[in-house]
Amino acid sequence: MKSTLYIELYEKLKKQIIEGQFKANDKFYSKRQLGNHLSVSQTTIEHAYHLLQDEGYIYSKPKSGFFVSDIESLPIFQNYNYEILSIDDTLNKKNSFTENEYSFKLAQIDTKYFPIDLFRKYSKDVFDANNLTLLQRGDIQGEVELRQQITQYLFNSRGVTCHPNQVIIGSSTEQLLNLLVTLLNDSSFIIEKPSYPPIKFVLDKQHVSYDQIKVEKNGINVDEVIKSNKNIVYITPSHQFPTGFIMDLKKRTQLINWAQENENRYIIEDDYDSEFRYYGKPIPALQSLDSKEKVIYISTFSKSIFPSCRIAYLVLPSKLLQRFYNQQHKETNTVPVHMQKIVSLFMESGSFNRHLNRMRKVYRNKLSFILKELKPYEDQLTIEGAETGMHFNITVTNGLTLKECLDRAMTEKLELQVYNYEESDNYNKLPKFILGFGGINEDKLKAHTDALIRALII
Ligand SMILES: Cc1ncc(COP(=O)(O)O)c(C=O)c1O
Repeated sequence: MKSTLYIELYEKLKKQIIEGQFKANDKFYSKRQLGNHLSVSQTTIEHAYHLLQDEGYIYSKPKSGFFVSDIESLPIFQNYNYEILSIDDTLNKKNSFTENEYSFKLAQIDTKYFPIDLFRKYSKDVFDANNLTLLQRGDIQGEVELRQQITQYLFNSRGVTCHPNQVIIGSSTEQLLNLLVTLLNDSSFIIEKPSYPPIKFVLDKQHVSYDQIKVEKNGINVDEVIKSNKNIVYITPSHQFPTGFIMDLKKRTQLINWAQENENRYIIEDDYDSEFRYYGKPIPALQSLDSKEKVIYISTFSKSIFPSCRIAYLVLPSKLLQRFYNQQHKETNTVPVHMQKIVSLFMESGSFNRHLNRMRKVYRNKLSFILKELKPYEDQLTIEGAETGMHFNITVTNGLTLKECLDRAMTEKLELQVYNYEESDNYNKLPKFILGFGGINEDKLKAHTDALIRALII
C-alpha cells in the first residue's frame, strides 16, 4: 500500500492542475506544508513531485520552490469514456453464438494434438541461444533459415521449385496480397466467383480493378479468363474457397499457357490448406507445372501450424523479385524474428512433417465420421468440397427454407454459417451452409453431428 501512496498523491495533484485549479506559473504547494497538511512523509511528497516535474506539470525555480507549468501545450488525456469501453461487452452479449453448444466454425484447428511441449522447447532454444541479434529487426524478406526450410518443404510436399531468395515471409495472406498489389502496379485482376472475401477487400481498398469469373466444378471458367483483358488471375486451385472444388489438369495447363503468352500475365496460386488432402493422390501445386515463372505461389501456416503464429509466405518469380528489391520503401518484416526462428526449428527437426502426418489422419477421421453419419440422409442433403481441407458445404434439398433451418439450428443450440457468398449459384435458392470441422473435439464430434442432423433433416 505504502509504495502506491505517492502515486495516489501524484494523481490527485495532477488532477487539480488539469482541472484548472492553478493558473500557469502559479506558485505550487510547498513540499513541507503539504506534507504536514496531509500527514505524509517528505519522501512520499518528493516522489510525487518528481513525477509531476518529469511529466511537465510543475517546474522548480532555485530557492523559490515549485510552480505550475503552462499546460495548455501538454497532451492531456480526457477522462475515459466508459460508455465506449463497454461496447465490446454489449457486442459479446448480442453474439448469440456464445450461447451455442454445438458449432461448425470455420478456420479452427484442433489444438489438442499440437506438440506444444516441443514448440516450447524450440522457443526456449531460440531464446537460450545466446544470440542477441534475435532482438534486432530481422531480414526484410524474412529470416533466411525459415525461407530455406519453406523452400525444401514446398519442393518435397508440393513440387514447388524455388530458391530461398524468392520467398517472402509475411504475417497473413492478406498482408502479402497487399504487397503483391504494389509489385504488380498497373495490373488488373480476375478473381474467382465466389472467392475468399479478403481478396476482394484488399483489391477494393487499393482501388485495383477486377472481374469476377465463375468457378465451375473443375475450376475457374478458363474461356472467360482468356476472353478478358485482365492480366492477373487469383485462384485457389487445390481447394477452391468457398466451393471446395479442385481445378483439373486441363484447366491448369490452359491457364499456364494463357499466362505464358504475355509478359505481364501472372497466376496467383493460393494454396492455403493443400496439406490436408484425404482421398486420392496428392495434387502438386500449379507452380510445379510452370517452366516460365508465371505463377506467384502463396500459402500460410494458419492451418498447418496454428493461426496465431501469423506466418504466410510468397514465392516470387524473379522478375517480380527484382521489383521487390528495387522498391524505394520496403515495409519492415511484420513477423517477429523469434517466431520465425521457432518455426524454422520446428520444421528442421522434422516435427512439422510428423505433425502434418498426424493431423492429416485426425482431420480425415473427423471428416469421414461426419460424412458417414450424414450418408443415410443423402436424399435430403448435397455435400460438396469434402476431399481436402477443413471445411465442406451442405445444401439442404428437403424443402426446408433457410429460415426454418436456422430456427431449428437455434433450437438445437447449433451455430451454422450460412453460405452467403453472393455470387454463388445457390444464393437465395436452396439453403446452403459452409461447415468447418477442424476445431471440433473428437469426443464431441457425434454430439455436434447429431445436432446438425436434428436441425437439417426432416
Ligand atoms: C483462400 C484462403 N487463403 C488464405 C487463407 C488464410 O490466410 P491467412 O494466412 O491470412 O490466415 C484462407 C483461410 O481460410 C483462405 O480460405
